[in-house]
Amino acid sequence: MKIDIAPVLADAAPAHRYLRNAWYVALWAQDLEPGKPFARTILSEPLVFFRREDGRPVAMVDRCPHRFAALSMGRILPGDRIMCPYHGLEFGADGACVHNPHGNGQVPATARVRSYPVVEKHTLLWIWMGDREADESLIPDYSCFDGVDPVRVSKRDYLRMDASCELVVNNLLDTSHTSYVHTGILGTGDTVAARTEIQEDRGTVRISRISDNSEVPSMYRDLTPASIQRTTKWNLIRWNAPSNIIIQGGVGGPGGDPAQGFGYDGCHLLTPETDRSAHYHFAAVRWNLISDDMAENEAIRQRISQLRRFAFADQDAPIIEMQQRRIDASREPLRPMLLSVDVGAVRCQRVLKQLLENDR
Ligand code: FES
Ligand SMILES: [Fe+2]
Repeated sequence: MKIDIAPVLADAAPAHRYLRNAWYVALWAQDLEPGKPFARTILSEPLVFFRREDGRPVAMVDRCPHRFAALSMGRILPGDRIMCPYHGLEFGADGACVHNPHGNGQVPATARVRSYPVVEKHTLLWIWMGDREADESLIPDYSCFDGVDPVRVSKRDYLRMDASCELVVNNLLDTSHTSYVHTGILGTGDTVAARTEIQEDRGTVRISRISDNSEVPSMYRDLTPASIQRTTKWNLIRWNAPSNIIIQGGVGGPGGDPAQGFGYDGCHLLTPETDRSAHYHFAAVRWNLISDDMAENEAIRQRISQLRRFAFADQDAPIIEMQQRRIDASREPLRPMLLSVDVGAVRCQRVLKQLLENDR
């Protein structure tokens, strides 16, 4: 009996469209150890990462062309090769099969896996999965991570979110939620009424939210001189399509000038795993240390790391993941009812829509 699987495969094809001609964060560079394959699904495609002998990273589809075993279960060999765990085919860093231990040893022309450009920059590994040439100059600027004293950088952290990238990005673009979800930690009752401004420049959107005469939230308390009690509090958000964000969050000074305030560059890097799940990398880089006591600064670094993880994993994630379940459970397509706080997210969505139209 002939079984026609074509309709089944057609149904299984993902309906979601990702922006492909863009740089996505694949993982923290520190998490790709020499000699060890690292598996991660990005844009619904299972990938394997490893390092060449000279340290440069490699990314390729995590599926052997023979019987489709996961190459990430195999071994890294000398000569920048990865060996399939099932029957020992070996692949070079460009994805071409370079060794077949079976039969006459001939390598079939089809023995190749697709590889993708991957670049190590700003202590992150960035991947390009589009069909246009990968232009490194388009990697968004996270130079706040470069050459900085480690005591100023909170833990380079990671969460896997059971929600679309879009929901997480919308959460970050709307800092009004800090007054409710992170009350006391990141926002206060004073920060509901903030002046919001938006600027857009060649695909980069900036949203500023400044509140005057605000209590210092507990996240910034240790970073701020005790003499400052009520002051200006601000969030300056920079969004680079499709999903890389920095939120400069701080207090003090006239507002909006890190040189005169106390806080940090909060880096939030989102990458779709699938259309219903996301990789969330985050870390914060502190601006002005108020003490020379390095033991004290290290204690602050650890506290900020824990508090930020608590805010995102224990406060944001339950709400965002439940949003996703509510959306999935709807019997009809949903359109959000927009409020003034959504103005930034709406602007970014408009830019993204245009980019998606030009993507292919
Ligand atoms: S599945 Fe990879 S060599 Fe057979
Ligand atoms: Fe949040």
